[in-house]
Amino acid sequence: MAGRYRSVKGTRDLVWPETALWNHVEETARRVFAGYGYGEIRTPLLEPTELFARSVGEETDIVGKEMYTFADRKGRSLTLRPESTAAVARAFIERGLESRGLPAKLFYIGPHFRYERPQRGRYRQFSQIGAELIGDPGPASDVELVLMLVRFLEALAFDELTVLLNTVGDTESRAAYRDALRAFLLPKAGELSADSRRRLETNPLRVLDSKDPGDRELLEGAPELAASLSTAAGEHFAAVRAGLEACGVAHRVEPRLVRGLDYYALTVFEITAGGLGAQDAIVGGGRYDGLLAALGGPDLPGIGFAIGEDRLVEATAEKVGWREPPLWPAVHVVGVDIAPIESLRLAEELRQRGVAATSELAPRSVKAALKGAAREGRSRVVLLGPDELAAGTVTIKDLETGDQETLPRSEAIERLAGGGEA
Ligand code: HAM
Repeated sequence: MAGRYRSVKGTRDLVWPETALWNHVEETARRVFAGYGYGEIRTPLLEPTELFARSVGEETDIVGKEMYTFADRKGRSLTLRPESTAAVARAFIERGLESRGLPAKLFYIGPHFRYERPQRGRYRQFSQIGAELIGDPGPASDVELVLMLVRFLEALAFDELTVLLNTVGDTESRAAYRDALRAFLLPKAGELSADSRRRLETNPLRVLDSKDPGDRELLEGAPELAASLSTAAGEHFAAVRAGLEACGVAHRVEPRLVRGLDYYALTVFEITAGGLGAQDAIVGGGRYDGLLAALGGPDLPGIGFAIGEDRLVEATAEKVGWREPPLWPAVHVVGVDIAPIESLRLAEELRQRGVAATSELAPRSVKAALKGAAREGRSRVVLLGPDELAAGTVTIKDLETGDQETLPRSEAIERLAGGGEA
Protein backbone atom coordinates (compact mmCIF):
# COMPACT_ATOMS: atom_id res chain seq x y z
CA MET A 1 0.00 0.00 0.00
CA ALA A 2 1.45 3.32 -1.03
CA GLY A 3 -0.55 5.46 1.35
CA ARG A 4 -1.62 8.97 0.50
CA TYR A 5 1.51 10.95 1.36
CA ARG A 6 5.18 10.64 0.56
CA SER A 7 8.21 12.19 2.20
CA VAL A 8 9.31 15.48 0.63
CA LYS A 9 11.82 15.04 -2.21
CA GLY A 10 15.38 15.00 -0.90
CA THR A 11 14.33 14.07 2.65
CA ARG A 12 14.20 10.59 4.14
CA ASP A 13 13.13 8.56 7.12
CA LEU A 14 15.88 6.86 9.06
CA VAL A 15 14.56 3.79 10.80
CA TRP A 16 16.27 1.34 13.12
CA PRO A 17 18.73 -0.35 12.48
CA GLU A 18 20.03 2.63 10.42
CA THR A 19 19.55 4.89 13.42
CA ALA A 20 21.75 2.59 15.51
CA LEU A 21 24.66 3.32 13.19
CA TRP A 22 23.87 7.05 13.24
CA ASN A 23 23.91 6.95 17.04
CA HIS A 24 27.20 5.08 17.04
CA VAL A 25 28.73 7.76 14.79
CA GLU A 26 27.36 10.57 16.96
CA GLU A 27 28.43 8.96 20.22
CA THR A 28 31.93 8.54 18.82
CA ALA A 29 31.98 12.23 17.83
CA ARG A 30 30.85 13.31 21.29
CA ARG A 31 33.49 11.14 22.98
CA VAL A 32 36.37 12.24 20.74
CA PHE A 33 35.41 15.95 20.76
CA ALA A 34 35.05 15.96 24.56
CA GLY A 35 38.64 14.77 24.73
CA TYR A 36 39.71 18.03 23.07
CA GLY A 37 37.58 20.23 25.32
CA TYR A 38 34.63 20.85 22.97
CA GLY A 39 31.16 21.57 24.36
CA GLU A 40 27.93 21.22 22.42
CA ILE A 41 25.98 24.13 20.97
CA ARG A 42 22.45 23.85 19.58
CA THR A 43 21.35 26.76 17.45
CA PRO A 44 17.88 27.19 15.89
CA LEU A 45 17.07 25.68 12.50
CA LEU A 46 15.70 29.08 11.47
CA GLU A 47 17.87 32.15 11.09
CA PRO A 48 17.43 35.56 9.48
CA THR A 49 18.20 35.22 5.75
CA GLU A 50 20.59 38.20 5.99
CA LEU A 51 22.91 36.19 8.23
CA PHE A 52 23.81 33.73 5.47
CA ALA A 53 23.81 36.32 2.68
CA ARG A 54 26.37 38.36 4.66
CA SER A 55 28.64 35.52 5.72
CA VAL A 56 28.44 32.66 3.22
CA GLY A 57 28.10 35.28 0.47
CA GLU A 58 25.53 36.49 -2.07
CA GLU A 59 27.39 35.01 -5.03
CA THR A 60 27.79 31.49 -3.63
CA ASP A 61 25.70 28.58 -4.88
CA ILE A 62 24.42 28.07 -1.35
CA VAL A 63 22.94 31.56 -0.98
CA GLY A 64 22.13 32.15 -4.64
CA LYS A 65 20.46 28.83 -5.45
CA GLU A 66 20.12 26.46 -2.57
CA MET A 67 18.48 28.09 0.43
CA TYR A 68 15.01 27.34 1.73
CA THR A 69 13.94 30.93 2.26
CA PHE A 70 10.46 32.17 3.04
CA ALA A 71 8.64 35.09 4.58
CA ASP A 72 7.00 34.46 7.95
CA ARG A 73 3.55 35.79 8.76
CA LYS A 74 4.96 39.21 9.54
CA GLY A 75 6.91 39.31 6.28
CA ARG A 76 10.37 38.70 7.82
CA SER A 77 12.69 36.73 5.56
CA LEU A 78 13.77 33.52 7.29
CA THR A 79 15.99 30.69 6.09
CA LEU A 80 16.35 27.07 7.13
CA ARG A 81 20.03 26.89 7.99
CA PRO A 82 22.14 25.64 5.05
CA GLU A 83 25.23 25.48 7.29
CA SER A 84 26.09 26.37 10.88
CA THR A 85 29.29 28.38 11.00
CA ALA A 86 27.37 31.63 10.51
CA ALA A 87 24.78 30.54 13.08
CA VAL A 88 27.46 29.65 15.64
CA ALA A 89 29.17 33.00 15.03
CA ARG A 90 25.82 34.76 15.49
CA ALA A 91 25.16 32.89 18.72
CA PHE A 92 28.70 33.53 19.97
CA ILE A 93 28.27 37.28 19.45
CA GLU A 94 24.69 37.44 20.74
CA ARG A 95 25.50 35.47 23.91
CA GLY A 96 28.83 37.22 24.51
CA LEU A 97 30.55 33.84 24.73
CA GLU A 98 34.04 35.38 24.78
CA SER A 99 33.38 36.17 28.45
CA ARG A 100 33.73 32.45 29.18
CA GLY A 101 37.35 32.51 28.06
CA LEU A 102 39.03 31.89 24.75
CA PRO A 103 39.33 29.97 22.63
CA ALA A 104 35.72 28.84 22.62
CA LYS A 105 35.39 25.25 21.41
CA LEU A 106 31.93 24.31 20.22
CA PHE A 107 30.49 21.37 18.33
CA TYR A 108 27.09 20.68 16.81
CA ILE A 109 25.19 17.79 15.28
CA GLY A 110 21.97 18.29 13.39
CA PRO A 111 19.94 18.82 10.24
CA HIS A 112 20.74 21.38 7.55
CA PHE A 113 18.86 22.23 4.38
CA ARG A 114 19.95 22.91 0.82
CA TYR A 115 17.84 22.84 -2.29
CA GLU A 116 20.16 20.67 -4.38
CA ARG A 117 19.41 17.95 -6.91
CA PRO A 118 19.08 14.84 -4.74
CA GLN A 119 21.30 11.87 -5.51
CA ARG A 120 23.29 9.32 -3.53
CA GLY A 121 25.02 11.18 -0.71
CA ARG A 122 23.22 14.42 -1.50
CA TYR A 123 19.96 15.32 0.15
CA ARG A 124 17.86 18.41 0.70
CA GLN A 125 17.77 17.72 4.40
CA PHE A 126 21.12 16.40 5.53
CA SER A 127 22.95 16.26 8.83
CA GLN A 128 26.28 17.81 9.69
CA ILE A 129 28.63 17.09 12.55
CA GLY A 130 30.64 20.26 12.96
CA ALA A 131 33.12 21.93 15.25
CA GLU A 132 34.21 25.55 15.59
CA LEU A 133 37.18 26.97 17.49
CA ILE A 134 36.78 30.70 18.02
CA GLY A 135 39.31 33.17 19.40
CA ASP A 136 42.75 31.86 18.55
CA PRO A 137 44.64 32.95 15.42
CA GLY A 138 47.67 30.67 15.64
CA PRO A 139 48.53 27.69 13.43
CA ALA A 140 48.46 25.37 16.45
CA SER A 141 44.67 25.77 16.49
CA ASP A 142 44.49 24.71 12.84
CA VAL A 143 46.63 21.68 13.61
CA GLU A 144 44.65 20.67 16.71
CA LEU A 145 41.31 21.00 14.92
CA VAL A 146 42.42 18.88 11.94
CA LEU A 147 44.01 16.37 14.30
CA MET A 148 40.72 16.02 16.19
CA LEU A 149 38.88 15.48 12.92
CA VAL A 150 41.31 12.79 11.81
CA ARG A 151 41.19 11.05 15.21
CA PHE A 152 37.39 11.01 15.03
CA LEU A 153 37.43 9.41 11.58
CA GLU A 154 40.05 6.91 12.75
CA ALA A 155 37.85 6.03 15.72
CA LEU A 156 35.19 5.07 13.14
CA ALA A 157 37.73 2.72 11.51
CA PHE A 158 38.83 4.97 8.65
CA ASP A 159 42.51 4.64 7.90
CA GLU A 160 44.91 6.04 5.36
CA LEU A 161 43.11 9.34 5.38
CA THR A 162 44.58 12.21 3.42
CA VAL A 163 43.67 15.75 4.28
CA LEU A 164 43.51 17.99 1.21
CA LEU A 165 44.91 21.31 2.30
CA ASN A 166 45.24 24.78 0.86
CA THR A 167 45.35 28.39 1.90
CA VAL A 168 43.10 31.09 0.47
CA GLY A 169 45.38 33.71 1.98
CA ASP A 170 44.58 36.74 4.11
CA THR A 171 42.60 39.78 2.92
CA GLU A 172 45.66 41.23 1.22
CA SER A 173 46.49 37.99 -0.62
CA ARG A 174 42.92 37.51 -1.76
CA ALA A 175 42.67 41.06 -3.12
CA ALA A 176 45.84 40.45 -5.17
CA TYR A 177 44.51 37.08 -6.33
CA ARG A 178 41.13 38.52 -7.33
CA ASP A 179 42.95 40.97 -9.60
CA ALA A 180 45.11 38.23 -11.11
CA LEU A 181 42.12 35.97 -11.73
CA ARG A 182 40.06 38.79 -13.23
CA ALA A 183 42.93 39.73 -15.54
CA PHE A 184 43.22 36.10 -16.66
CA LEU A 185 39.48 35.62 -17.28
CA LEU A 186 38.57 39.02 -18.71
CA PRO A 187 39.71 38.24 -22.29
CA LYS A 188 37.54 35.07 -22.21
CA ALA A 189 34.57 36.72 -20.51
CA GLY A 190 32.37 36.36 -23.59
CA GLU A 191 32.72 32.58 -23.51
CA LEU A 192 31.94 32.19 -19.77
CA SER A 193 28.52 31.03 -18.55
CA ALA A 194 26.13 33.80 -17.50
CA ASP A 195 26.69 33.03 -13.80
CA SER A 196 30.46 33.16 -14.14
CA ARG A 197 30.36 36.34 -16.21
CA ARG A 198 28.44 38.03 -13.42
CA ARG A 199 30.72 36.58 -10.74
CA LEU A 200 33.75 37.82 -12.63
CA GLU A 201 32.50 41.32 -11.84
CA THR A 202 31.08 40.77 -8.35
CA ASN A 203 33.26 38.04 -6.84
CA PRO A 204 35.85 36.45 -9.19
CA LEU A 205 36.85 33.77 -6.65
CA ARG A 206 33.41 32.21 -6.99
CA VAL A 207 34.00 31.62 -10.72
CA LEU A 208 36.29 28.83 -9.51
CA ASP A 209 33.25 26.98 -8.05
CA SER A 210 31.55 26.75 -11.45
CA LYS A 211 30.56 23.24 -12.48
CA ASP A 212 29.86 24.32 -16.08
CA PRO A 213 32.13 22.22 -18.36
CA GLY A 214 32.83 25.22 -20.63
CA ASP A 215 33.87 27.33 -17.62
CA ARG A 216 36.05 24.49 -16.33
CA GLU A 217 37.89 24.40 -19.63
CA LEU A 218 38.38 28.17 -19.65
CA LEU A 219 39.75 27.97 -16.10
CA GLU A 220 42.58 25.67 -17.15
CA GLY A 221 45.86 27.44 -16.67
CA ALA A 222 44.29 30.04 -14.35
CA PRO A 223 46.72 31.59 -11.89
CA GLU A 224 47.01 29.85 -8.53
CA LEU A 225 46.48 31.59 -5.25
CA ALA A 226 49.90 30.56 -3.99
CA ALA A 227 51.48 33.12 -6.32
CA SER A 228 49.55 35.95 -4.62
CA LEU A 229 50.22 34.91 -1.01
CA SER A 230 51.40 37.58 1.41
CA THR A 231 54.40 36.73 3.60
CA ALA A 232 52.26 36.41 6.72
CA ALA A 233 49.78 34.09 4.98
CA GLY A 234 52.63 31.99 3.59
CA GLU A 235 54.18 31.66 7.04
CA HIS A 236 50.88 30.62 8.60
CA PHE A 237 50.42 27.92 5.95
CA ALA A 238 53.97 26.63 6.37
CA ALA A 239 53.48 26.42 10.15
CA VAL A 240 50.22 24.50 9.75
CA ARG A 241 51.86 22.02 7.39
CA ALA A 242 54.86 21.55 9.66
CA GLY A 243 52.54 21.07 12.65
CA LEU A 244 50.47 18.43 10.87
CA GLU A 245 53.64 16.64 9.88
CA ALA A 246 54.93 16.74 13.45
CA CYS A 247 51.65 15.13 14.57
CA GLY A 248 51.80 12.49 11.83
CA VAL A 249 48.75 13.72 9.91
CA ALA A 250 49.04 12.90 6.22
CA HIS A 251 48.05 15.79 4.00
CA ARG A 252 48.39 16.91 0.43
CA VAL A 253 48.42 20.49 -0.78
CA GLU A 254 45.62 20.98 -3.31
CA PRO A 255 46.38 24.36 -4.94
CA ARG A 256 42.92 24.61 -6.53
CA LEU A 257 40.95 24.00 -3.34
CA VAL A 258 39.13 27.26 -2.53
CA ARG A 259 35.83 26.02 -0.94
CA GLY A 260 32.57 27.55 -2.08
CA LEU A 261 31.88 29.89 0.84
CA ASP A 262 33.02 33.51 1.09
CA TYR A 263 34.00 33.67 4.74
CA TYR A 264 37.18 31.63 4.44
CA ALA A 265 40.61 33.10 5.08
CA LEU A 266 43.98 31.30 5.26
CA THR A 267 43.71 27.55 5.87
CA VAL A 268 41.05 25.53 4.03
CA PHE A 269 40.76 21.74 3.90
CA GLU A 270 38.64 18.81 2.78
CA ILE A 271 38.69 15.07 3.25
CA THR A 272 37.22 12.77 0.64
CA ALA A 273 36.16 9.16 1.07
CA GLY A 274 36.51 6.65 -1.75
CA GLY A 275 33.46 4.73 -2.95
CA LEU A 276 30.99 7.58 -2.62
CA GLY A 277 31.05 8.51 -6.28
CA ALA A 278 30.64 12.17 -7.17
CA GLN A 279 29.62 13.14 -3.65
CA ASP A 280 32.86 12.07 -2.04
CA ALA A 281 33.66 15.11 0.12
CA ILE A 282 32.80 13.94 3.59
CA VAL A 283 34.14 17.02 5.32
CA GLY A 284 35.05 20.59 4.56
CA GLY A 285 36.41 23.34 6.72
CA GLY A 286 38.74 26.20 7.19
CA ARG A 287 39.62 29.42 8.92
CA TYR A 288 37.25 32.41 8.93
CA ASP A 289 39.18 35.17 10.64
CA GLY A 290 37.07 38.15 9.50
CA LEU A 291 33.63 36.59 9.96
CA LEU A 292 32.74 37.65 13.50
CA ALA A 293 33.73 41.25 12.88
CA ALA A 294 31.76 41.27 9.63
CA LEU A 295 28.69 40.20 11.60
CA GLY A 296 29.11 43.12 13.97
CA GLY A 297 30.87 41.14 16.71
CA PRO A 298 34.34 41.26 18.23
CA ASP A 299 37.24 40.91 15.79
CA LEU A 300 38.03 37.32 16.73
CA PRO A 301 39.44 34.64 14.42
CA GLY A 302 37.86 31.23 13.99
CA ILE A 303 38.38 27.87 12.38
CA GLY A 304 36.11 24.88 11.99
CA PHE A 305 34.83 22.00 9.92
CA ALA A 306 31.58 20.28 9.09
CA ILE A 307 31.22 16.63 8.25
CA GLY A 308 28.37 15.44 6.04
CA GLU A 309 26.93 12.87 8.41
CA ASP A 310 24.80 11.12 5.76
CA ARG A 311 27.90 10.49 3.65
CA LEU A 312 29.97 9.56 6.66
CA VAL A 313 27.41 6.99 7.77
CA GLU A 314 27.30 5.47 4.28
CA ALA A 315 31.07 5.30 4.10
CA THR A 316 31.29 3.88 7.64
CA ALA A 317 28.78 1.14 6.85
CA GLU A 318 30.91 0.06 3.90
CA LYS A 319 34.14 0.39 5.82
CA VAL A 320 33.37 -1.64 8.88
CA GLY A 321 30.65 -3.90 7.48
CA TRP A 322 28.36 -2.59 10.20
CA ARG A 323 26.30 -5.21 12.02
CA GLU A 324 23.36 -3.86 13.86
CA PRO A 325 23.17 -4.48 17.61
CA PRO A 326 20.32 -6.71 18.77
CA LEU A 327 17.13 -4.74 19.17
CA TRP A 328 15.24 -7.00 21.53
CA PRO A 329 16.21 -7.42 25.17
CA ALA A 330 17.66 -10.85 25.98
CA VAL A 331 14.85 -11.57 28.45
CA HIS A 332 11.19 -12.02 27.52
CA VAL A 333 8.34 -12.84 29.90
CA VAL A 334 5.67 -15.19 28.56
CA GLY A 335 2.43 -15.58 30.48
CA VAL A 336 0.70 -18.94 30.25
CA ASP A 337 -3.06 -18.61 30.77
CA ILE A 338 -2.70 -15.46 32.86
CA ALA A 339 -3.65 -11.86 32.15
CA PRO A 340 -1.01 -10.02 30.13
CA ILE A 341 -0.83 -7.42 32.88
CA GLU A 342 0.66 -10.08 35.22
CA SER A 343 3.53 -10.76 32.78
CA LEU A 344 3.93 -7.03 32.35
CA ARG A 345 4.28 -6.59 36.12
CA LEU A 346 7.06 -9.19 36.26
CA ALA A 347 8.83 -7.56 33.29
CA GLU A 348 8.51 -4.21 35.04
CA GLU A 349 10.06 -5.67 38.23
CA LEU A 350 12.98 -6.87 36.12
CA ARG A 351 13.35 -3.47 34.43
CA GLN A 352 13.32 -1.79 37.83
CA ARG A 353 16.26 -4.03 38.73
CA GLY A 354 18.09 -2.87 35.62
CA VAL A 355 17.34 -5.91 33.46
CA ALA A 356 16.14 -5.01 29.96
CA ALA A 357 13.04 -7.15 29.44
CA THR A 358 9.78 -7.29 27.52
CA SER A 359 6.62 -9.32 27.98
CA GLU A 360 3.78 -10.66 25.84
CA LEU A 361 1.30 -7.81 25.66
CA ALA A 362 -1.52 -9.82 24.07
CA PRO A 363 -2.39 -13.44 24.85
CA ARG A 364 -1.20 -16.05 22.34
CA SER A 365 -0.14 -19.68 22.56
CA VAL A 366 3.09 -20.53 24.40
CA LYS A 367 4.33 -22.23 21.26
CA ALA A 368 3.86 -19.07 19.18
CA ALA A 369 5.43 -16.92 21.91
CA LEU A 370 8.51 -19.17 22.14
CA LYS A 371 8.88 -19.22 18.37
CA GLY A 372 8.68 -15.41 18.30
CA ALA A 373 11.28 -15.10 21.05
CA ALA A 374 13.66 -17.40 19.20
CA ARG A 375 13.20 -15.44 15.97
CA GLU A 376 13.99 -12.21 17.82
CA GLY A 377 17.23 -13.71 19.13
CA ARG A 378 16.27 -13.73 22.82
CA SER A 379 18.39 -15.84 25.11
CA ARG A 380 15.95 -16.40 27.95
CA VAL A 381 12.22 -16.64 28.40
CA VAL A 382 10.54 -16.36 31.80
CA LEU A 383 7.39 -18.48 31.96
CA LEU A 384 4.63 -17.50 34.34
CA GLY A 385 1.34 -19.39 34.77
CA PRO A 386 -1.45 -19.52 37.37
CA ASP A 387 0.40 -22.17 39.44
CA GLU A 388 3.58 -20.11 39.52
CA LEU A 389 1.63 -16.99 40.41
CA ALA A 390 -0.02 -18.83 43.32
CA ALA A 391 3.28 -20.33 44.51
CA GLY A 392 5.33 -17.15 44.01
CA THR A 393 7.68 -18.85 41.58
CA VAL A 394 8.69 -18.44 37.94
CA THR A 395 10.32 -20.71 35.37
CA ILE A 396 13.42 -19.55 33.48
CA LYS A 397 13.93 -21.23 30.13
CA ASP A 398 17.29 -20.95 28.41
CA LEU A 399 16.52 -20.73 24.69
CA GLU A 400 20.01 -21.79 23.64
CA THR A 401 20.27 -25.00 25.68
CA GLY A 402 16.55 -25.64 26.18
CA ASP A 403 17.17 -26.13 29.96
CA GLN A 404 14.57 -24.78 32.31
CA GLU A 405 14.39 -24.25 36.05
CA THR A 406 11.67 -23.15 38.46
CA LEU A 407 12.75 -20.73 41.18
CA PRO A 408 11.21 -18.43 43.78
CA ARG A 409 10.30 -15.19 42.02
CA SER A 410 12.75 -12.99 43.96
CA GLU A 411 15.61 -15.43 43.41
CA ALA A 412 14.87 -15.56 39.69
CA ILE A 413 14.89 -11.79 39.45
CA GLU A 414 18.16 -11.69 41.37
CA ARG A 415 19.69 -14.25 39.04
CA LEU A 416 18.54 -12.46 35.88
CA ALA A 417 19.94 -9.23 37.32
CA GLY A 418 23.32 -10.93 37.42
CA GLY A 419 23.39 -11.53 41.18
CA GLY A 420 23.33 -15.35 40.98
CA GLU A 421 24.75 -18.01 38.70
CA ALA A 422 23.16 -18.06 35.29
P1 HAM B 1 30.36 22.61 3.24
O1 HAM B 1 31.53 22.14 2.48
O2 HAM B 1 29.35 23.44 2.54
O3 HAM B 1 30.93 23.43 4.48
O4 HAM B 1 29.62 21.37 3.89
C1 HAM B 1 30.33 20.43 4.66
C2 HAM B 1 29.95 19.01 4.32
O5 HAM B 1 28.54 18.86 4.42
C3 HAM B 1 30.26 18.60 2.89
O6 HAM B 1 31.60 18.17 2.76
C4 HAM B 1 29.31 17.44 2.69
O7 HAM B 1 29.86 16.24 3.21
C5 HAM B 1 28.12 17.83 3.54
N1 HAM B 1 27.03 18.31 2.67
C6 HAM B 1 26.86 19.52 2.12
N2 HAM B 1 25.74 19.57 1.38
C7 HAM B 1 25.17 18.35 1.46
C8 HAM B 1 23.99 17.74 0.92
N3 HAM B 1 23.13 18.42 0.15
N4 HAM B 1 23.74 16.44 1.22
C9 HAM B 1 24.58 15.74 2.00
N5 HAM B 1 25.70 16.25 2.54
C10 HAM B 1 26.00 17.54 2.28
C11 HAM B 1 30.17 24.00 5.46
O8 HAM B 1 29.00 23.80 5.60
C12 HAM B 1 30.97 24.84 6.43
N6 HAM B 1 30.03 25.44 7.42
C13 HAM B 1 32.04 24.02 7.11
C14 HAM B 1 32.81 24.80 8.11
C15 HAM B 1 32.66 24.81 9.45
N7 HAM B 1 33.78 25.68 7.84
C16 HAM B 1 34.23 26.21 8.96
N8 HAM B 1 33.54 25.71 9.94
